[in-house]
Amino acid sequence: MDQAAGLRHLVKENGQGSHVDIGGSDSNQRIRVISITSGKGGVGKTSVAANLACVLQALGKRVLILDADLGLSNMDIVLGLNPRYTIGHLLRGEKTLDEVIVTAQDGVKLLPAASGIQELTDLDNSQRLFLLNELDALNGKFDIILIDTGAGISSNVMYFNYAAMERVVVITGEPTSLTDAYALIKILSSKYHQKRFKVLVNLVSNGNEADRIFRSLSVVADKYLDSPSLDYVGWIPYDKMIPKAVRKQRPLLNMNLNTPASKSYKRLAERMLTSEDDVVFEGDIKFFWRSLLSC
Ligand SMILES: Nc1ncnc2c1ncn2[C@@H]1O[C@H](COP(=O)(O)OP(=O)(O)O)[C@@H](O)[C@H]1O
Ligand SMILES: [Mg+2]
Repeated sequence: MDQAAGLRHLVKENGQGSHVDIGGSDSNQRIRVISITSGKGGVGKTSVAANLACVLQALGKRVLILDADLGLSNMDIVLGLNPRYTIGHLLRGEKTLDEVIVTAQDGVKLLPAASGIQELTDLDNSQRLFLLNELDALNGKFDIILIDTGAGISSNVMYFNYAAMERVVVITGEPTSLTDAYALIKILSSKYHQKRFKVLVNLVSNGNEADRIFRSLSVVADKYLDSPSLDYVGWIPYDKMIPKAVRKQRPLLNMNLNTPASKSYKRLAERMLTSEDDVVFEGDIKFFWRSLLSC
């Protein structure tokens, strides 16, 4: 059974997938731009973006990952790719978007970043506008763009979170992950007027632990921030197969559909697809402002 067939089977097996569109993509559908972000590094953003992309692609969506950890990228490694060109070539006008985007085994596309290139760690305004314009041209070619941001509260991280239509903040049970997530949400809501955040809890043992961790963040956010809304989208268990998959340079979902994390990723993808109607467009500059203006 190939990966897509395996995932469809998994959807049916769990009896929860009847409402998920697995028959292909509707090119008239509005593109969704979703950032996967965190305050603290090492919480699993890249892993989440790669695996979520894999399931969504297998469910019939056309998915592009934008590696936005511009100076310290590693999505290409996780996907087992060795791209010739990066976003640096695009920004310098040396290559076109089509020349830079590469395809992973499962059909997921990647706009790779460069590792160790200092000049990309802080894009200037003209580079940001150039990138928005370039990405705007992708409307109609993809259903979902997942942006794997860097960690922290640098201006690049803020920019990509601001440019996205939805933000998924990844947290773990470590106190520093919670305080850093709080700091990120605080800045995005107070300075960038972003009020809605999806929260994903990674690296836990079970749903109760994940609920507790989510609650501890939402209680503090409710108390001290000016009404941002935190929407709990699920949890991914600690799964020893994930680091193994990274060592093999393949997303977990590309090699093993039956581990605890694989099943959680399937549920997460399903939830993301069914929450599509809730998407609220915030901010002024969007990757796909033309389509927003035309609706
Ligand atoms: N659910 C999980 N179970 C086990 N290991 C995980 C899980 N999620 C991520 N990891 C591991 O944690 C480390 C950090 O993940 P990564 O995705 O690189 O984080 P980030 O992009 O936030 O810095 C990696 O070694 C990855 O394999
Ligand atoms: Mg990362």
